[in-house]
Amino acid sequence: MKHTRIATLLETDHLLQDYTVKGWVRAFRSNRFIALNDGSTLANIQCVLDFENTDEEIISKINIGAAVKISGVLKESEGKGQRVEIEVNEIEILGEADPEDVKKTILSPKRHSLEKLREQAHLRVRTNTFGAIMRLRSKLAFAVHQYFNTQGFYYVNTPIITASDAEGAGEMFKVTNLDLNNPPKTKDGKIDYSQDFFGKETNLTVSGQLEGETYALGLGNIYTFGPTFRAENSNTSRHLAEFWMIEPEMAFCDLDGNMDLAEDFIKYVLNYILENCDEDLAFLEERLLQEEKSKPEKDRSPMKLREKLKFVTENNFKRVSYTEAIDILKNSKPNKKKKFNYPIEDWGADLQSEHERYLVEKHFKCPVILFDYPADIKAFYMRLNDDGKTVRAMDVLFPGIGEIVGGAQREERLDVLKEKMKAIGIEEEELWWYLDTRRFGSCVHSGFGLGFERLVLFATGMSNIRDVIPYPRTPQNAAF
Ligand code: 4AD
Ligand code: MG
Repeated sequence: MKHTRIATLLETDHLLQDYTVKGWVRAFRSNRFIALNDGSTLANIQCVLDFENTDEEIISKINIGAAVKISGVLKESEGKGQRVEIEVNEIEILGEADPEDVKKTILSPKRHSLEKLREQAHLRVRTNTFGAIMRLRSKLAFAVHQYFNTQGFYYVNTPIITASDAEGAGEMFKVTNLDLNNPPKTKDGKIDYSQDFFGKETNLTVSGQLEGETYALGLGNIYTFGPTFRAENSNTSRHLAEFWMIEPEMAFCDLDGNMDLAEDFIKYVLNYILENCDEDLAFLEERLLQEEKSKPEKDRSPMKLREKLKFVTENNFKRVSYTEAIDILKNSKPNKKKKFNYPIEDWGADLQSEHERYLVEKHFKCPVILFDYPADIKAFYMRLNDDGKTVRAMDVLFPGIGEIVGGAQREERLDVLKEKMKAIGIEEEELWWYLDTRRFGSCVHSGFGLGFERLVLFATGMSNIRDVIPYPRTPQNAAF
């Protein structure tokens, strides 16, 4: 018989019928009650075994972590905590799990720290916490596609191997098939990439933006959603070396339209999970409350997880220029010592995350969109304002996260763009194809990048980005 997923069974009104379920044993009590989970939902289904009529050898194999197939009748449950249960008629062990070996893993039924779970990233998805996080992640990804599709955006797949450095920050992982222990060299002693498979120096993409722009100037509105890579040695709870980025790009759209889209988009996807993922959100909310109990009262979050998400969806983001933000920061008293670790002294300084978080968490107490940053601290492709010193950049800042979105209106004027590239040493030949967009039907256009893991971080209330992606890639992480 075809098996039914537990999520479906727990909802169905068709009781007193035969069903087959397949899943992994979470608990086995009194040789009688099996708690079975198949990942389709947070809840387990209780399967009640007639142990007197069940083979002893089979009973000895009903251990935590084992995969089993159970057929039986779905009945109203007399026990507390569940509406229905399965009265087992047939049980088959599909995959054993040795209890002695299980004890050495995070499958053993006790509380494990998140650090410990990270060491066994291949097993952690079988815990309640990671089941909930990864289901939410999947739902958020679906909501992203749904939003852009209903708004008339086309999904574009930009290359992962590329020769360009979209952000101009040089934080790239090289891709080469040359033997780097003994590479071919040019006359001046440099590695000769012309002998590489790609015939030039290539790297993993840091952003799909530049290619995305070329597609927006043909399809109108597009978005990318793919893996991006940064070889920055950042050991923080907000940075990954491999992360997923969502990058919409719109032709005939200025910075105001870009801010509107970012705000509307974020609200839509958070609303989607509020409406569709209540069970997992409630579980993560409760987990967070327990975690916060160990903190001093003043450090506890004033809002519960779902309240925080609702707050974001129901209130306007505050839009503030960089210059206004600097004034606020200069005159602010962030703590008893009245100082930031990096005090803001002059206009032109890049904001540190302590500044961003101060603006969001202490000053405005809501998400903030900062715009019109100094040209010198932003990427070359951003539209220069008439003042000649600021660019039409925007960053969306979130409580507990800091920067969640970075974007801009793009420099559409060929001469200004060439000038800016020259100033920072980007050869025109390197980006000849990008410059073509400014030669043939250039127009005002804008876009942004949202770090998907930072969104999942906010949505789940987790505090470390390593816990919202299945296999985190960070500087000290052994890759497997
Ligand atoms: O601000 P960033 O570097 O902007 C860009 O890459 C633009 N090309 C995007 C665009 O306009 N199309 O990155 C965008 C977002 C950040 O706001 C942050 O959410 C996320 O990507 N991000 C990271 N997330 C995790 N780990 C990292 N190392 C990240 N670096 C950036
Ligand atoms: Mg940025």
